[in-house]
Amino acid sequence: MAPRFFVGGNFKMNGTQTFLRNLIDNLNAGQLDENAEVVIAPPALYLDQCRKQARKEIGVAAQNAFNASSGAYTGEISPEQLKDLGIEWVILGHSERREIFKESDEFVAAKVAFALKSGIKVIACIGEKLNERESGQTFEVVTRQLQAIAKEINDWTNVVIAYEPVWAIGTGKVATPQQAQEVHEYIRKWLRENVSEATAEQTRIIYGGSVNASNAAELAKQKDVDGFLVGGASLKPEFVNIVNARI
Ligand code: G3P
Repeated sequence: MAPRFFVGGNFKMNGTQTFLRNLIDNLNAGQLDENAEVVIAPPALYLDQCRKQARKEIGVAAQNAFNASSGAYTGEISPEQLKDLGIEWVILGHSERREIFKESDEFVAAKVAFALKSGIKVIACIGEKLNERESGQTFEVVTRQLQAIAKEINDWTNVVIAYEPVWAIGTGKVATPQQAQEVHEYIRKWLRENVSEATAEQTRIIYGGSVNASNAAELAKQKDVDGFLVGGASLKPEFVNIVNARI
């Protein structure tokens, strides 16, 4: 069975109570493809508000979580605390966390493993920077990032892999459908060869980087593109059209 199409909305550090209330009213009222799994990721402060407001078919993700249940970790939130609020998902390894907050492959992998062990599903982000693509290192970079995670986990059932080429994030410069397909195909092959055939078949590999209502349908047609992780456009009404890219 083909894995279920998955569309995440990463709100990043955007929104206020009022803005998010309106955004979710719009989503709740929208006709969303029943075959698509939709997960929104508001800033941590608003997780509770959004979980309470969003209709239950819409999943909610945190944008980060630490690899401990509780303790002296000022400014962090734990998977246990997410569960306490009914939050089912967390985004880990986003390139903004890797770049700005210097999160290493190993740290990301430790957090992925801890979140899964705690019962939180993970959207694990990987992807190359512009200079890495230009010097032909794309596969090498995603392999390194995948390998770090594979060292820490065996079961990928509750993992969605988001391929987000850094050069396409927030730049308006979307990967072409062929560029996305090429890397997604590579990731699936890597899973087949390094984890298992079943994991390769069942794991959703989603694309992120300047996805909008105009480019989503073409990208969604690619064989190995199982959905999207949307930034800027998830804050706009067009997010509904992206969710519906396959219909
Ligand atoms: O996680 C989503 C992301 O980084 C893509 O952002 O604004 O290019 O859609 P954007």
